[in-house]
Amino acid sequence: MWKKHAKFERHSLWLVMGITVVVSIGGLVEIAPLFWVESTIEEVEGVRPYTPLELAGRDIYIGEGCYSCHSQMIRPLRDEVERYGHYSLAAESMYDHPFQWGSKRTGPDLARVGGKYSNEWHREHLDNPRSVVPESNMPPYAFLADQDLDQHAIQAKLRAMVAVGVPYTADQIENAEA
Ligand code: HEC
Repeated sequence: MWKKHAKFERHSLWLVMGITVVVSIGGLVEIAPLFWVESTIEEVEGVRPYTPLELAGRDIYIGEGCYSCHSQMIRPLRDEVERYGHYSLAAESMYDHPFQWGSKRTGPDLARVGGKYSNEWHREHLDNPRSVVPESNMPPYAFLADQDLDQHAIQAKLRAMVAVGVPYTADQIENAEA
């Protein structure tokens, strides 16, 4: 037996072939089942594509770079679950293009911030974060209040989402602006 092993250790080509065989078997065992299971993402009740207005808001979030301080992915770690709620499931981001996962957080995770504060709180907070959270180092976004929502491209945005698999109907695209 040890003699056979010496062959692998002495000749790099044999070693490379041996590694290739072993890694291929390991890869097949891991990858092949994915072709047979019905779905690798469990479904979550209540997950639906964004309304056009929500999509426009999400674009502001991305455009303003909010993601550089905030993630939308609660990790399955005890401290995160206790602070933010149930850890994020893959299906919850299935209509997010691009998704907002990440671990870079200057501010808290926002995956479940919805409903935590009133609309008034958010308005105040965006206008001047320090008016509601004195120790905050989040920059103010007061200028957003004076900006009209740019909706000229909203239909095109929905169509782009359809191209990457979000099931908007022709009717929804037609009435997106409304
Ligand atoms: C420079 C980093 C930074 C940027 C950029 C930033 N934030 Fe924040 N954000 C923070 C910090 C720090 C906090 C925690 C203190 C506070 O509540 O103000 C926070 C808190 C929040 C909260 C409250 C979260 C909670 O659970 O209390 C919301 C909502 C929020 N930010 C939204 C936004 C939005 C929307 C944008 C983009 C328009 C944005 N943030 C951009 C740093 C940032």
